Amino acid sequence: MQERISPARRISGALRLPGDKSISHRYAMLAAIAEGPTRIHNYSPGADCQSTLGAVSALGAVVEGRDGEIVIRGQGLEGLAAPAADVDAGNSGSTIRMLSGILAAQEFSTQIYGDESLSRRPMDRIMKPLGEMGAVIRARDGRFPPLEITGAKLRPIEYTLPVPSAQVKSCVLLAGLFAEGATVVNEPVRSRDHTEIALREFGADITVAPRKITLQGRPKLQGRSLAVPSDLSSAAFFIVAALLVPESDLVIQGVGLNPTRSTLLDFLISIGANIKILDVAEANGELVGDIRISSSAIRGGAIEGATTAALIDEIPVLAVLGAASDNGLTIRDAGELRVKETDRIATVVENFRRMGIAVEARPDGMVVPGRQRFRAAAFDSFGDHRIAMAFAVAALRGDGESVIENGDSASVSFPQFFSILRQVTA
Ligand code: S3P
Repeated sequence: MQERISPARRISGALRLPGDKSISHRYAMLAAIAEGPTRIHNYSPGADCQSTLGAVSALGAVVEGRDGEIVIRGQGLEGLAAPAADVDAGNSGSTIRMLSGILAAQEFSTQIYGDESLSRRPMDRIMKPLGEMGAVIRARDGRFPPLEITGAKLRPIEYTLPVPSAQVKSCVLLAGLFAEGATVVNEPVRSRDHTEIALREFGADITVAPRKITLQGRPKLQGRSLAVPSDLSSAAFFIVAALLVPESDLVIQGVGLNPTRSTLLDFLISIGANIKILDVAEANGELVGDIRISSSAIRGGAIEGATTAALIDEIPVLAVLGAASDNGLTIRDAGELRVKETDRIATVVENFRRMGIAVEARPDGMVVPGRQRFRAAAFDSFGDHRIAMAFAVAALRGDGESVIENGDSASVSFPQFFSILRQVTA
């Protein structure tokens, strides 16, 4: 589907965005293996999180409700059942990688597969630790979906993450729930900690020291009532839009401000963004607050090291901002971008080329010069939700109407993206 975007004069208003994708996946998976019902308010409407609901219900958890208000009736740690058919993870790396931790501990085998994009994404990063714990996993060419997971009585392990990945960390921790004894994950680079927080909320015994997480196996997880904050990674598109378009003033309410995610705001403020956190509260162990963004002169700079890992999902839209900044933006240490839903270095560079924006691609990043003129163009999402939304934001600065081919990919994380964008654009 094509989306058409005209240049904007102003981005303004007050917004509330759908629930966080990362947190929604985790709540659904833990609810499925908890005892009793879990009520989840503001569950992400994105296709990825619906894939997780489909998967847990195929495994015997009962899922009820709709429009972001759902109830999952958990089956307990021992209660999942063999699915009647192969499990479809759709486009969702989080679903296949994290759920594999649970599947690895079952008494049955499961086949789990995904769409064309997911079928090209590496799974050896979870196969290795799960293999060490005792599961047997077969993959296409030894590392790609579909996966055939033969569960086992798992052993606890101490595992040091070779790549910064919250999905791999979460996979090992979920598997560790089923192992007798303490599972330890060391993470040399900090990644989002929603799994650790959610495990504690469901009653698991987990301790978190800097870069080291220890989980005691075989807890009794208890279903409960939970509220998902709005997704900061979805908010990122509106934040950058408001920074880029002159005379903008936007408030986004109830956004998740977990410190492992809010590096985005710290980074933007450090390069000149006028962003105010209006208030902060805690809900289910997660920080939540309202933020206000006004158009700003952005200096530009560099994203590298641990900052790259913390901003990994936001890099496409930050690259767009970089092209409008005073000094440009250099992105380093971002090799992981090459194995996301698309090769995001290649898809960003291709869309920049279409709008006449200079960029130098590097194996692990890119250099985007600043003060560039944004020409209207026919962009392509290449089936990647964050590319669709990043270039919709770029189009707001175009010199005429732009087209986003395959714009409907946005629905992987944010089905209402284009309609909300229209509401706040003048
Ligand atoms: C996610 C972790 C990140 C991120 C993805 C969601 C998560 O992936 O890119 O969108 O919910 O844990 P990696 O674990 O591959 O870094």
